[in-house]
Amino acid sequence: MVQRQLPKPAELFELMQFKKPELDGRKRRLDAALTIYDLRTIAKRRTPKAAFDYTDGAAEGELSLARARQAFEDVEFHPGILKPAPTVDTSVEILGGPSALPFGIAPTGFTRLMQTEGEVAGAGAAAAAGIPFTLSTLGTTSIEGVKAANPHGRNWFQLYVMRDREISYELTRRAAAAGFDTLHFTVDTPVAGARLRDKRNGFSIPPQLTLGTIVNAIPRPWWWYDFLTTPKLEFASLSTTGGTVGELLDAAMDPTISYADLDVIRDLWPGKIVVKGVQNVEDSVRLKDAGVDGIVLSNHGGRQLDRAPIPFHLLPQVRKAVGDDFTVMIDTGIMNGADIVASVALGADFTLIGRAYLYGLMAGGRQGVDRTIAILRTEIERTMRLLGVSSLAELEPAHVTQLTRMVPLGESILVR
Ligand SMILES: Cc1cc2nc3c(=O)[nH]c(=O)nc-3n(C[C@H](O)[C@H](O)[C@H](O)COP(=O)(O)O)c2cc1C
Repeated sequence: MVQRQLPKPAELFELMQFKKPELDGRKRRLDAALTIYDLRTIAKRRTPKAAFDYTDGAAEGELSLARARQAFEDVEFHPGILKPAPTVDTSVEILGGPSALPFGIAPTGFTRLMQTEGEVAGAGAAAAAGIPFTLSTLGTTSIEGVKAANPHGRNWFQLYVMRDREISYELTRRAAAAGFDTLHFTVDTPVAGARLRDKRNGFSIPPQLTLGTIVNAIPRPWWWYDFLTTPKLEFASLSTTGGTVGELLDAAMDPTISYADLDVIRDLWPGKIVVKGVQNVEDSVRLKDAGVDGIVLSNHGGRQLDRAPIPFHLLPQVRKAVGDDFTVMIDTGIMNGADIVASVALGADFTLIGRAYLYGLMAGGRQGVDRTIAILRTEIERTMRLLGVSSLAELEPAHVTQLTRMVPLGESILVR
């Protein structure tokens, strides 16, 4: 028999905890987001369909992106026990400078289309968190504007070698003059990938007002208010070169770029240079031998060649082939701090986040990007503690295995 009694008022009072309501709607919304996927849900609600799909989508059947995310989900961690880790150190030394966390912000084009604060929000949040920010050639804030938003932190510049080479050389000189310390030379876009969502949405820059976009705009008035009352959306660093957005975009893709271009850019660039978009072991070794400072294993977030290799799967073999003294970074599919920890364990020196940052931006501008970084930081720290490591250097391949649903059949696929 259960004994029953009348509750005492003092006991009831102890149970009642009324929190002060949060009056700042943006903060309330962002605080409720516990994962990057939560930020994505908010972003979808607040951003016009065409802009959200441009960000969220990938090429063709979007298999590369789905597989990359799946590969991270298939990680199995192997914790050590009874290894005290009262504090964790998440800082790393990368390309000659510090980063408070093992990830930086990846270059993305058209960023102010997602939310009007765009790159300024990204660079400001990166500065506050002590991590690097990368500006795209197709950025919507100028090189100098990013420098102003992150005057003391690390800025990196991503270069597309344009058909008119002089434009790229000029951008390289400008980024160097503004104190950017690393150049990312992107090599996975000889032609544009087929983004089918954009075709279906009739996506255009600037957005066209059709009946569909007007209906879609009704529940998203703030995005339109921002869009209509802030400076024109343009490729800010390229605007002085003339040409429409379409022409400039077309000119950014050149199927003739080669190692010869890499040599020219290296001579122009005083800082570190990394090649972004490397997708096999042979190219990784060749680039190391060519003397670049590092590589980014990436398939451009699945936005170029669909069914491209999963960068996370390439990582252990690339690390083995290039040895320990060469910088290997990775991106594509990172949605959780644990993905970053697993990458470091398998040999990555650093990682980049694309959409995770943009979901935060669309969910709440600068505060949203702060939230993205905070979520990833918490996940990284917690995963490290649960694994029993107190610094990133302690992570090793033995901490990670993979459930084998998607492992390539033979090495021959990766080593040509
Ligand atoms: C909307 C969007 C625009 C992008 N624009 C560029 C770009 O201009 N230059 C570039 O090198 N990579 C670009 N990328 C690729 C990212 O730098 C990065 O490789 C990719 O987003 C990583 O995958 P994730 O989004 O799953 O993190 C873009 C990615 C997205 C999502």
